[in-house]
Amino acid sequence: QNKIYRDGLLHQQFPLVTTDPNKLEEQAKSKLPPTSYNYVAGGAGEKATMDANRLAFRQWKMVPRMLRPTTQRDLRIKLFGETYESPVLMAPVGVQTIFHEDKETGLAEVCSEIGVPYILSTASSSSIEEVAKANGNGPRWYQLYWPQDDDITISLLNRAKANGYTALVVTLDTWALAWRPADLDGAYIPFIKGVGNRTGFTDPVFREKFAKKYGGTPEDKVQQASEEWVGEVFSGAAHTWDQLALLKKHWDGPIILKGIQHPEDAKLAVKHGCDGIIVSNHGGRQLDGAVGSLEMLPEIVEAVGDKLTVIFDSGIRTGVDIIKALALGAKAVLIGRPAIYGLAVGGKHGAKQVLQGILADLDQSMGLAGIQNIAGCNHSMIRRVQYGG
Ligand code: FNR
Repeated sequence: QNKIYRDGLLHQQFPLVTTDPNKLEEQAKSKLPPTSYNYVAGGAGEKATMDANRLAFRQWKMVPRMLRPTTQRDLRIKLFGETYESPVLMAPVGVQTIFHEDKETGLAEVCSEIGVPYILSTASSSSIEEVAKANGNGPRWYQLYWPQDDDITISLLNRAKANGYTALVVTLDTWALAWRPADLDGAYIPFIKGVGNRTGFTDPVFREKFAKKYGGTPEDKVQQASEEWVGEVFSGAAHTWDQLALLKKHWDGPIILKGIQHPEDAKLAVKHGCDGIIVSNHGGRQLDGAVGSLEMLPEIVEAVGDKLTVIFDSGIRTGVDIIKALALGAKAVLIGRPAIYGLAVGGKHGAKQVLQGILADLDQSMGLAGIQNIAGCNHSMIRRVQYGG
């Protein structure tokens, strides 16, 4: 894990992508067209929730232990009966082609090399099948933006199942897109040109319905097909809890609800037989003014932590952030923007390096804190603090 450091300190071989989490965004900015940069770095409203996501981490501090046998660390975890190399998963992020031509297929390939599960977005610029091929024997999950049309939903689930995606992540917080000023200030609005619609455009059921309604293929009528697909998945019409039965009927593996922030919703997830939840506010890209995601984690874990698997995202930037989320009861975390900044700076190798850097930082920080394995990342290692001024 410490190869990055050894190469730098001893051989003056410095990494392609900065390992400073605060500089990473700047480095990506210098590489990306402003439209793509605004899309990834942007948030909803005045970005108050994006700020809160980081501030929430600052409210917790580590309290390290000494003289413990932690020279060798074990980062492995078990989720839904599977063993994974570490508690880090790649968050679903749409339209990756606007950040680098390596796009989803490249990122899925390098995730497989380092044992990080790749979660494919419904809003992808590579298809379900292309990503499965690139990911090979690597672990992969599928993220659903839940279409209005049940036939299309079932078709997506069947494709994901047939292509080795083992868990289903259902994102609940984005049934309509938020008020995101950057979009109208010239961010890349991916969906209008068909870029984030590859999943839809390659779907046989969507194609058949489209041909019946409009004549022709999505490729012939990109604008019309994009509008149709965006209407399916970001329709502005929310689903309701009882409709989860359809997903349960057509999916064999674990179902994980993403975007849970309220403990009562966490209880409803248990009541409706879900296997997991992801405590997330979509990286502050949906409801601005919402509470920092980490803030809600302890209450949610208290309410349902023994009944389903709680995963966390929104604001993770360092190894210690991961330890804090685990200590507050999460079983795993998702990395979003940092890996995408890496992709922007150095393609799939850049993204791989960012993920490896975060894993190395986690490993090293666990060692310095006196923690040997993931079970050791518990509440005894942290304290809530408030420094004024
Ligand atoms: C996202 N996110 C997201 N989530 C999802 O369920 N489906 C998606 O298609 C996308 N697309 C997407 C695009 C971009 C550019 C970003 C930055 C994020 C949200 C993502 O999965 C995760 O919740 C956040 O990225 C977590 O916040 P941080 O830690 O990246 O700030």
